Amino acid sequence: MAEINLQKFQKPTILSGMQPTGDLHIGNLEGALRNWVKLQDQYNMYCCIVDWHSLTADYENTAILKDRIFQMAIDFLSAGLDPEKCAIFIQSSVKEHAELHLIFSMLITVPTLTRLPTYAEKKEDKGLDSYGFLGYPVLQAADICIYDADKVPVGRDQEKHVWLANDLAKRFNAIYGPTIKEPEVLISEFPVVPGLDGRKMSKSLDNHIALIHTEAETAARLKRMFTDPQKLRKGDPGRPEICPVFSLHKIYTADADTSIAPPCRSGELGCVDCKKKLTENLNRTLAPIRAKRAELEKNEDFIWDVLKSGSVRAHERVSMVMNKVRRAMKMDYFNS
Ligand code: TRP
Repeated sequence: MAEINLQKFQKPTILSGMQPTGDLHIGNLEGALRNWVKLQDQYNMYCCIVDWHSLTADYENTAILKDRIFQMAIDFLSAGLDPEKCAIFIQSSVKEHAELHLIFSMLITVPTLTRLPTYAEKKEDKGLDSYGFLGYPVLQAADICIYDADKVPVGRDQEKHVWLANDLAKRFNAIYGPTIKEPEVLISEFPVVPGLDGRKMSKSLDNHIALIHTEAETAARLKRMFTDPQKLRKGDPGRPEICPVFSLHKIYTADADTSIAPPCRSGELGCVDCKKKLTENLNRTLAPIRAKRAELEKNEDFIWDVLKSGSVRAHERVSMVMNKVRRAMKMDYFNS
């Protein structure tokens, strides 16, 4: 009874995850982090740094993970995540993720997994074919369900993975009785953040602007950004609607539609000046984040404390859910 009353007053729970691939960039910032920062006030929030997931693409070079996790925690905090409001933690420090993954792996068939578009794409792109890679979305489903998460904030590309988590929760509940919350996706429409070459921004393509880059590095990188290929020199009419630089102006320049697009179209504004304006605005927006970053980087102990206490909070939550799971399966041998 007490439990039910309490839940009434609790905020709904959300969980999201990010792989520690290093150097968070403005694509991650605009596409996910800013949204997480907003959500932390309305929800009971868990932000998971999914180091086990990152092994699917590279299981050999594990020595870099510690620093990447550290840097990612700094990126999260400098973007505005507040460890008082949300638990920031490392996936592998909460072992129950692996336990539920194993149980879930029994409830899903191999063809269901190979039919997922992310499987086919990455298998092709990255030549991945491991057992762990096949199970990537099953681990993700465990990440989500083990928190009894109500919602999962992700971009469109991850939507099917959340549906899969919902399917797995339903399947578990159908077999063992109602136990696990069936999570829903929380899609937010994000601005398009093209990389320097116009493709999706990504660290592996080296077409990114990272939070860790200095103002000068940002200026130098923007200089080599692609523009409308038909606009060769100042005076040539440009097409903002196809220009990746303009896509960034739309995010970082408040009046881009009136101050940038018309003079670009008429030819009055050349690409060099246009990029200078973008550099100024982008650097101005990132300045407080970069300042906080520099401050936090000096305080190594604090960062590890945040991650440690985040894991403790995460663990409290998952223990409750895993106890229910073991009980439902009649596998809590020593307590029944
Ligand atoms: N697969 C997600 C991505 O690549 C990362 C992720 C892992 C995740 N576990 C999650 C996202 C749980 C949301 C919820 O972006």
